[in-house]
Amino acid sequence: EKGGFEHFMLKEIFEQPRSIRDCMRGRLDSTQGRLVLGGLSEYITKLVNADRILIVACGTSWHAGLVAEYFFEEFCRIPVEVEYASEFRYRNPVIREGDVVIAISQSGETADTLAAIELAKSKGAIIFGVCNVVGSSIARATHAGAYTHAGPEIGVASTKAFTAQLTVLSMIALSVAQRKGTITEQKLHELLVEMETIPAKVEKALTLNDEIRKISALFKDARNFIYLGRGYNFPVALEGALKLKEISYIHAEGYPAAEMKHGPIALIDEEMPVVFIATRDSSYEKVVSNIQEVKARKGRVISVVTEGDKLIPAMSEFVVEVPAVHDALMPLVSVIPLQLLSYHIAVMRGCNVDQPRNLAKSVTVE
Ligand code: M6R
Repeated sequence: EKGGFEHFMLKEIFEQPRSIRDCMRGRLDSTQGRLVLGGLSEYITKLVNADRILIVACGTSWHAGLVAEYFFEEFCRIPVEVEYASEFRYRNPVIREGDVVIAISQSGETADTLAAIELAKSKGAIIFGVCNVVGSSIARATHAGAYTHAGPEIGVASTKAFTAQLTVLSMIALSVAQRKGTITEQKLHELLVEMETIPAKVEKALTLNDEIRKISALFKDARNFIYLGRGYNFPVALEGALKLKEISYIHAEGYPAAEMKHGPIALIDEEMPVVFIATRDSSYEKVVSNIQEVKARKGRVISVVTEGDKLIPAMSEFVVEVPAVHDALMPLVSVIPLQLLSYHIAVMRGCNVDQPRNLAKSVTVE
């Protein structure tokens, strides 16, 4: 059942080229410039005309929501708020006519997310669901939605569900942008072509496995980790830190790299591993300065860079290279080495990777 892998988590990490492809199948066709999300068609104009999008989710799904915020703002020019479902539901949120809610959940059973949906519904909002489990409570409670089609995710740590969520959310954003006219046909075409290359690029990123296992052996006894990224890679930093803490029980924090100097930089000393998600994008130069700041304090820099980069590798103790991808789609690829890093560290520490202590696959209590 684990398909020859030692754990479900590793199997699911390696399934990602296929699960991402399955998620796009029948929905995206770059040659026709076509994006069809069946479950949305009836309500898509609500999204196109939305004054604001509210995204509600928990955990890894909330991280996917943070990436989606950047998609919708960049491509659709719609303001977005990303909310922890548990905070949203208890604070009398402002929900206005013209607001559209997107709920993201792998299991479709997360109690707080479900309650946030019910609250928004009671105030008259239209709710879209992005779920993996077909027929789940959240899928049923929403007005419309798109399944992620990642297949069953057994490992408690979410991996393939995350990349499938990003895939669906980028397709929704591009489809809305196309209808709104906030993206040029040429740009749209470029992005659709690029999306079709993602499964192969993820495949390539997975070949880093052995290299990452070696790096993991050197850091398995660390007591803390910091993950830093900017722009589209900021939520990836949060996701890398969450993966590490939940399965290896090492304390880890993710931050937007520039926020470091507002506090966390005080933590950096010669024992602190700092993982930079530092691929070539519009914030590249800024990230270079952040790496210098960490180096000046003797932090141990591990960088995820774009293939062929020379500058950041020269500044890092360890480097892993991922294929070049458009900024907006980079999280689909840059998260892969972080999933592998957390997996190997947890295995080396003798942790129960698929069923970490104190955690359940779906959190059905508030
Ligand atoms: O099923 P959901 O996507 O609603 O679950 C949300 C979180 O409980 C979940 O992502 C959790 O954070 C994972 N264990 C992270 O790997």
